[in-house]
Amino acid sequence: MRAILCKHTLLLLSTLLLASIALAYSADLPKASEKEVLPLIKPAVSTGTGLLLEPPLDLSKYTTEEFTALSSTVGTQRIHKKWTSPVVTLPTHARDGVHGLTEQEVKDYMLQAKQLFQEGKSVPISDVGLISTQEDVVRRPMLNHIAAFSNSVARVYLLVQMTSTDKHWSYFSIVQDLTLEPPLDYFGDLNKGAPRFEALSCYKCHSSGPLAIHPARADLVSDAPLAAAISQHIADQPLSRFYFPSHEPKPDYGKPMALKFCTKCHDTDGDRLPLFKNHAHPIRILVDFGYMPPKRRLTPTEVEELKAWLDEKP
Ligand code: HEC
Ligand code: HEC
Repeated sequence: MRAILCKHTLLLLSTLLLASIALAYSADLPKASEKEVLPLIKPAVSTGTGLLLEPPLDLSKYTTEEFTALSSTVGTQRIHKKWTSPVVTLPTHARDGVHGLTEQEVKDYMLQAKQLFQEGKSVPISDVGLISTQEDVVRRPMLNHIAAFSNSVARVYLLVQMTSTDKHWSYFSIVQDLTLEPPLDYFGDLNKGAPRFEALSCYKCHSSGPLAIHPARADLVSDAPLAAAISQHIADQPLSRFYFPSHEPKPDYGKPMALKFCTKCHDTDGDRLPLFKNHAHPIRILVDFGYMPPKRRLTPTEVEELKAWLDEKP
């Protein structure tokens, strides 16, 4: 009896061993590490609130393989890095005792981030982003590579982006000047020679500076633990102000949203900055896809209140 048990146990063990070897070497099956982390990324599914202006985009024909192939055209030596910290440490700032980075210093940080990415010295997360893919902005997969950097004076972010039908990658950056109280967020377009500060076109979605990573589907992200770690870094950021350059002064965005189920967190003294009607696009998506508020769904009455506020004339 004992011998039989032993034989069975051995047989079972060797089967398990073979199965795990097969699993580790099979390209089609998720690796153990990926299997463990899938729950980190909540599936992006519309909850049917009626807040979306366009029907949810059906991405079911867009395969993981298509995503991986197109995402890799940025250069495989630049992405899928092994990492311990999701944020790359930048050299110490050259100027001592800084109170307010100069515009040139900010632009230099933007260029440094781009260069580090191009040299394969960053830790980018690659995904198809939910917010830019859904609704009427592009309405096709928007591919992103996002990398984070920092030193004691600045938090720097790089976005390398293209849609599924583009041929070229575009570069954008956000630099948070931490030497000011509150910190100041600069937005840059790095595609036409020297970095150019942009504001109005970025503020529409970036109401509180950098945005958390929300992939359009759980498999359209390169490294879920990295996405979660970068999102955590972003969620922990200090409340900052948005830099409007002189060529794009801040317009009158009207009154901030006053619905308490949002202003509990999105307010001048909250975790995130106030929301205006100008932010309708990310509001409609994050609420409809069940990401906001973070821990519960709005009641039907609250959805109606939000809808009424969004539809109200400014
Ligand atoms: C349509 C909404 C939208 C607009 C407009 C927009 N962004 Fe973003 N941006 C996003 C989203 C969403 C992410 C996170 C993407 C993800 O989930 O992968 C992001 C990410 C970024 C990042 C990486 C750091 C972070 O926030 O996660 C940078 C840098 C960035 N954007 C720069 C810009 C700049 C500069 C502009 C203006 C020229 C701009 N963006 C305009 C939606 C937008
Ligand atoms: C318990 C706090 C909390 C509540 C309540 C809340 N949010 Fe958020 N919201 C956050 C945090 C934290 C983030 C950043 C992390 C993320 O995007 O996942 C965020 C991000 C957002 C963003 C992206 C811009 C930004 O600030 O990063 C929008 C838009 C947004 N929320 C809308 C809403 C709306 C609309 C409501 C009400 C229906 C709401 N939120 C309720 C905490 C909250």
